[in-house]
Amino acid sequence: MVRSIFCWVLLFSVLSVQAQVRQAIDFNRDWRFHLGDDSLASGKSYEDSKWRPLNLPHDWSIESDFIKDAPATNQGGSLPGGIGWYRKTFVLPVAAHQKQVSISFDGVYQQSEVWINGHYLGKRPNGYMPFSYLLSPHLLPYPQKNIIAVKVDNSKQPNSRWYTGSGIYRDVQLMIRNQTAFDTSHFFIQTREGSSGDAVLNISGVIDFKQMDQTDRVDYQTEIYDPSNRLVSISKDFFQVNFPVRIRFQLKDTLQRPLLWNPLRPSLYTIKLKLFLNGKLQDEWSTRFGIRYFSFDQQKGFVLNGQQLMLKGVCMHHDLGALGAAFNKVAAKRQLSLLKEMGSNAIRFSHNPPAAAMLDLCDEMGFLVIDEAFDNWAKKKNKYDYHLDFTQWHERDLLAMVTRDRNHPSVIAWSVGNENREQFDSSGIYWGKRLVEIVKSADSTRPVIAALTETMPEKNFIAKSGAMEVLGFNYKLFDYPYLPQRFPGKVFIATETASALSTRGVYQFPADSIRIWPPDYKAQDTFNMGNKDYTAAAYDNTHAYWGGTHEKTWLAVKKHPHMAGIFVWSGFDFLGEPLPYPAFPSRSSYYGIIDLAGFPKDVFYMYQSEWTEKNVLHVFPHWNWNKGDTVDVWAYYNQADEAELFINGKSAGKRTKTDSSLHVSWRVPFEPGLISVRSSKKGQTVMEKSIRTAGPAYRIELLADKKRLKADGKDLSFITARILDREGNLVPDAGNLIQFTVSGNGMIAGTDNGYQADTRSLKSPERHTWKGLALLILQSNGKKGNITLKASAQGLKPAAIILSTTD
Ligand code: GAL
Repeated sequence: MVRSIFCWVLLFSVLSVQAQVRQAIDFNRDWRFHLGDDSLASGKSYEDSKWRPLNLPHDWSIESDFIKDAPATNQGGSLPGGIGWYRKTFVLPVAAHQKQVSISFDGVYQQSEVWINGHYLGKRPNGYMPFSYLLSPHLLPYPQKNIIAVKVDNSKQPNSRWYTGSGIYRDVQLMIRNQTAFDTSHFFIQTREGSSGDAVLNISGVIDFKQMDQTDRVDYQTEIYDPSNRLVSISKDFFQVNFPVRIRFQLKDTLQRPLLWNPLRPSLYTIKLKLFLNGKLQDEWSTRFGIRYFSFDQQKGFVLNGQQLMLKGVCMHHDLGALGAAFNKVAAKRQLSLLKEMGSNAIRFSHNPPAAAMLDLCDEMGFLVIDEAFDNWAKKKNKYDYHLDFTQWHERDLLAMVTRDRNHPSVIAWSVGNENREQFDSSGIYWGKRLVEIVKSADSTRPVIAALTETMPEKNFIAKSGAMEVLGFNYKLFDYPYLPQRFPGKVFIATETASALSTRGVYQFPADSIRIWPPDYKAQDTFNMGNKDYTAAAYDNTHAYWGGTHEKTWLAVKKHPHMAGIFVWSGFDFLGEPLPYPAFPSRSSYYGIIDLAGFPKDVFYMYQSEWTEKNVLHVFPHWNWNKGDTVDVWAYYNQADEAELFINGKSAGKRTKTDSSLHVSWRVPFEPGLISVRSSKKGQTVMEKSIRTAGPAYRIELLADKKRLKADGKDLSFITARILDREGNLVPDAGNLIQFTVSGNGMIAGTDNGYQADTRSLKSPERHTWKGLALLILQSNGKKGNITLKASAQGLKPAAIILSTTD
């Protein structure tokens, strides 16, 4: 084997003349689905023409009405699990002849088994981990038909503490490449800061080399493109080989004055890999990466590119509201955009890795990510959860996450677990060490953490393992001041906070009386002290006994620089875990800063006022009360030193925030009309917000977040239906039943209103508004043209909106 390395820097625009040496085919289209089991369905000649045709990603659970006796319970979202089969018939392209063909699944929930042309390929119990199978040995060449069959078994319930979804709910890809090619699953680019600000790149990977008749020369090179797509560097090397091998390669490169990635300016570079066999191009593959340097510091917390940066994060489960678990990049982007708007710069994907494309979005939009592997280790939380598979599968599963995600600049820490019961006995020492060792074998550039609850060092065996450089603590905000003494040398993250509960648009007085729902552990399964309509007030005054209000927790984290960041439980309401209500019809969570439909609750603006520099003034509640009511008016503001409330033009007084309170409030008698709050700085008005008493519901208004969709069958428009009075004021308690109808080149992907106890299917074309609002998600059907959406409700003036679908 001879080697030589040379590297130079070029600056010119790229001409992309590419042979199709590698094809990554979107394999989501044209599957057939059967809900139920049929042991013969794995066979090649099985008759599936009666099965339902559909495109992936798909979640069959979300298609059902919510049901009282779902085996998953309301903790799992009151939706059914079961067994489902998917089959796809396909013909390979002629060009695939003698090539290596593999299929990759980004996530199938759960216990999937796969067959190609009747040959069993394997099984994957874990529903969140990516996996792939080599198909080529069993494939039939063009023009013969191949059949892939997938069995998904989510019948053993309960197997989760939250809604999981069921089915092939993430992307599927078919990869066709030459026999001599990169094995891209081994690719890793590491960046570190060199002298004089240069970035030193360590690039490594694996080449499969299948030629063997002669001595062959394999040249490989990497090209680096800067964020404006200009080629800035090439590195090369070669091997000479005369037998089939798998070669691990390494290249080094240096970039001068790189544009660093950070949440405000997420600059992304592209690396393109090329492989030549005796001078002929065999493979070409590219991926993006970012250059950023970070560390966790006992005094400063998190430091990014030399600067202290507080992680202002939220925890997120993987469902996309009315779409269920079925991944859709447009819907995921909407979630992230709302979080960005709130000022969040970080996400903990709890308690499993997200879709790969979600991390692409985090790279692009500038989020710092904790990528988490497990909620369970060997000890169970639910009868049929991952503890049953952990011992056998943990290593493969953990490595699947780390190798898929380690090239994302957004990922800054690996979490190996959440509140694992192993922290309470010596098995925590063993597993803590073992899991960290596995992660480090694939990536030593990021710290490994676990989200813990036990804050006494002698009782916390995972912390005792000494394996984690950074300790995550969920809740226990009263212990924040003592953590550095108790765990000397460690850095801390508030991996979960708050668990405050609210329903959008619900207001109860007095607003400042704190409700602890449920009050303690014993009351958890029998709690019946809540509201009759299964709601919780939207004043930040209700929380689980282990949590705290949003304000209190954020103030506690903010005060302690040794806390590197906060991850609020949770960014959005999610399906399942509807604490405080132990039973149906509550079926989705109350923890979110944003509701399940994506409508911000009031506390969104508390975070926005603290986490952004933009001017914020948010006033609530609405102004539709009864004569004689005493109403608590609250406001969140920033960039101002006081706020003044006016009721029908008359001042109700000025208020200023204090060190211990992030809102101001007025307790005032209701009188119909107009209230307004003015924030001001040194006497100068900064912002003004008004709310008017609304009259009776009169008409529907439809507001689309975009009116032009890509005709790709995937693009979505999120359309808000609002119930207005004659003057155009939102009617804040309107609960009208809206009928939506769609014609043209689109379809309803889901409807919602954010109310946690609405039992109508989230796929229904009918939806009650909740506190004046409902959401409709419109999806392109893949054809170009127009889509017309109509909304009508009894007694109201209907509304219609026309959208177009284009290339
Ligand atoms: C935590 C747990 C989360 C969620 C949350 C609700 O203990 O890690 O998954 O259950 O409580 O408050």
